Order: sequence, then C-alpha cells, then structure tokens
Amino acid sequence: MKKDLSNIKKSKLYLDKNECVGIPTETVYGLAANAYSDRATEKIFKLKKRPKKNPLIVHYFSIRDLEKDCNINKNFIKLYKNFCPGPITFILKIKKESKISKNVNDNKSTLAVRFPKHPLTRRLLKFLNYPLAAPSANISSRVSAVSKMDVKEEFGNKVKFILDGGTSKFGLESTIVSLINKPQILRLGCIEVNKIRKALKNKISLKKKSKNFIVPGQGKVHYSPGIKVRLNVQNPKLHEAFILIKKRNFNGNNYFYLSKKNNLNEAGKNLYKTLRMIKKLKYKSIAVERIPNKGIGQTINDRLIRASKR
Ligand code: TXA
Ligand code: MG
Repeated sequence: MKKDLSNIKKSKLYLDKNECVGIPTETVYGLAANAYSDRATEKIFKLKKRPKKNPLIVHYFSIRDLEKDCNINKNFIKLYKNFCPGPITFILKIKKESKISKNVNDNKSTLAVRFPKHPLTRRLLKFLNYPLAAPSANISSRVSAVSKMDVKEEFGNKVKFILDGGTSKFGLESTIVSLINKPQILRLGCIEVNKIRKALKNKISLKKKSKNFIVPGQGKVHYSPGIKVRLNVQNPKLHEAFILIKKRNFNGNNYFYLSKKNNLNEAGKNLYKTLRMIKKLKYKSIAVERIPNKGIGQTINDRLIRASKR
C-alpha cells in the first residue's frame, strides 16, 4: 500500500535523526532507535525509564547484516532455519569490530538479536543502513503494547512517530535462547519449548529461576497492570475483574475471556490487551482462573506470575 510506504519513509526520517519510533512486530510493539548511535539508544532508556543495566534486543533484516556485529554458530543456523524471520531472540557473542552502541548491551561481550517477521518492520529494516535496538514499547515493568494505541497510551507525544501495523499477531514477547555455551532458554515466549527442543535435537535446557538472575524481563516485577492480580482463582470476589479461558454457565459483566474456544494461542494473543482494558475500566483487582501449564500456557503463566508480584 502507498500509505505504508510513505509511513516507512517517515519512520526512516525520524530514525536517521536519532529519534525513537514505535514499530510493529509479530510479538509486541517495539520502541526502536538506531542501534549504532549512542544518542539514539540513550533516548530509549530515558523514555522507558529503563535501568541502563538491562540490555536491549537488536533487530536485523538478514544474517548478512547480523554478521557485521556477531559471531554465529551451528545452533544459530538450525534455529534460524526453523523459526526466522519470527518470534525468537538469540544471545550471541558480539564482535570486537561491531559498531553497536555500548548503551545497547551495557558494554557486555554478548548481544541479543532477532529477525522480526512483521512485513512493515521488515521493509523498514531493509531500507535502513543500521539495525534497530528495540525493547518492548512500554514504560519499564508495565504491560507490553500490542497496538499503535497502546504505544500512544504509554508514551503520549514523547514518541515522535509510531508505524501502524495493526494488532500484534502473537501478543507475547519472543522466546530468548542463549547460544553462548550450551543452548538455554532464558525467557519463555511465543514458540513452544518443545518445538525448540526438537529443532536442536533435545540439546537445550530451560533456565531455572534463581534468586539473582539478571536476565529477561526477569526483574521480578514485570508486565504489571498496576493493580492487584490473584492467580488460580475459581470464583472471583464481588467487583473484581475475572480473567478466564473456559466457558462457564454464569457470566458476569466482570468476566473477561482470553479465548472464545479455550485455545491457548488465542489466549496468549489477548492477554496484554485484556489486562490493559481491565485497568482502563478502573477495576481495583484482577482474579485469574488457572491456566493449563502446557504449550503457550507456560508463557502465559510466566507473565501472569510476574504481573501478580507487586
Ligand atoms: O518480542 C520481543 O522480544 C520484543 C519485540 C519488540 O522484539 N522485545 C522485547 O524486548 O521484549 P525487551 O527489552 O522488553 O526484553 C528483552 C529482554 C530483556 O529482559 C533483557 O534483559 C534481555 O532481553 N536481554 C537483552 N540482551 C541480553 C543479553 N545480552 N543477555 C541476556 N539477556 C539479554
Ligand atoms: Mg519488555
């Protein structure tokens, strides 16, 4: 569409001037800036109120572009072939000659990278001569944004431009896999753990929760709607929003279904949208029905547990 092309051009104009732009991805919206620029990446941390110690994901168009900044390996190639472009992030060793701003990865020896699938963002990446650093487009510790409106709600006029790509297809963040030593899943995401296991012929582990883990959205409080969240609830209290996935005979107007057909992928897609809506309706607390801990249900539970910690 003509309109899309002119919006992509507009995004490039802002990005070239070291400004942040909201970009659509198939997972959630990102707050993007030139990953090679100190000034541009600095703005991301400011806008998000994000601690400098929490590194960003860099978004690329192709492996050729990636190889300017990172060393790749066999496991990377296997996973790339199976899932890219798509909702998976890799932790790789950064090259000495890389031009990635030190702000992006807190001057570490590793870098988080991904190849988003959303067509508009792919076109934009192809058009630019630098990759895009982009965390989820939300104020730190809050619920991620899955539409242009959500990004607007988070940052108001502080973000110069948002590239509108409709509602994010998955509505949950990418799966993060470290390929530094033995492959390890650092953050559950849109891809089921089993599929990743299969692609690597079982040679992968899931990072266990540890008290002092530094990684992935992995500050304890995260994805918080800013109101109390109670999990594994069978019956909500009066005046409490109730999130559920299984159809019930009784339906109050405080009942919010994540899925019409008890489908976990659909539930994942609707999770952040629903949390945002409940907050807007001024509920003071949220009860959530037990979500089966299988497939994407694992990711939903991971996010809900973090959302419930305040
Ligand atoms: O789906 C997604 O991944 C979205 C879209 C916009 O691409 N992005 C996203 O970014 O979720 P963010 O910043 O909200 O989460 C990235 C996580 C952070 O929690 C960070 O700690 C982790 O990735 N991370 C970044 N660089 C890392 C590194 N070098 N080693 C380990 N973890 C890293
Ligand atoms: Mg985030």
